[in-house]
Amino acid sequence: MNIRSTLLLTVVSAALLGIACGSADDQIKKNALAAQSSGPATPAPPDGMAVFRQYCLVCHGADGKLGLNGAKDLSASTLTLEERINIVTHGKKLMTPFDEMLSAEEIKAVAEYTLTLKQK
Ligand code: HEC
Repeated sequence: MNIRSTLLLTVVSAALLGIACGSADDQIKKNALAAQSSGPATPAPPDGMAVFRQYCLVCHGADGKLGLNGAKDLSASTLTLEERINIVTHGKKLMTPFDEMLSAEEIKAVAEYTLTLKQK
């Protein structure tokens, strides 16, 4: 091995080390931040209301009663959480499936949110 390739090797391994340290540092910072904001370092659960406002309001309306494009009145819906999750995931008639737009956690959160629209 000549000096040049030894040098190159040193530079490359230094760079690799740098990357490894950097991401480890970032992870520690992220964990510290998470610990600060919510006690134990668990990721914040998705906000069902925010998801609803972004994706569902156009057809269902803020109170779930709008009924655009033949959307069902969510305040009158008697479906269970599982049935709601299923419809949101796979869609139904004019309602688009959300499995490619939302994570399973987001779908569950928004389905739970629709339960709160139910009229007593
Ligand atoms: C493009 C318009 C549209 C959007 C956007 C939409 N929906 Fe719907 N939704 C519908 C239609 C239409 C139906 C009725 C399907 C049928 O005929 O059974 C429906 C039905 C439902 C039902 C079943 C209600 C019942 O009692 O049968 C639930 C729950 C629901 N939507 C939740 C959601 C949620 C949560 C979102 C956002 C993630 C959403 N929808 C976004 C159009 C939409």
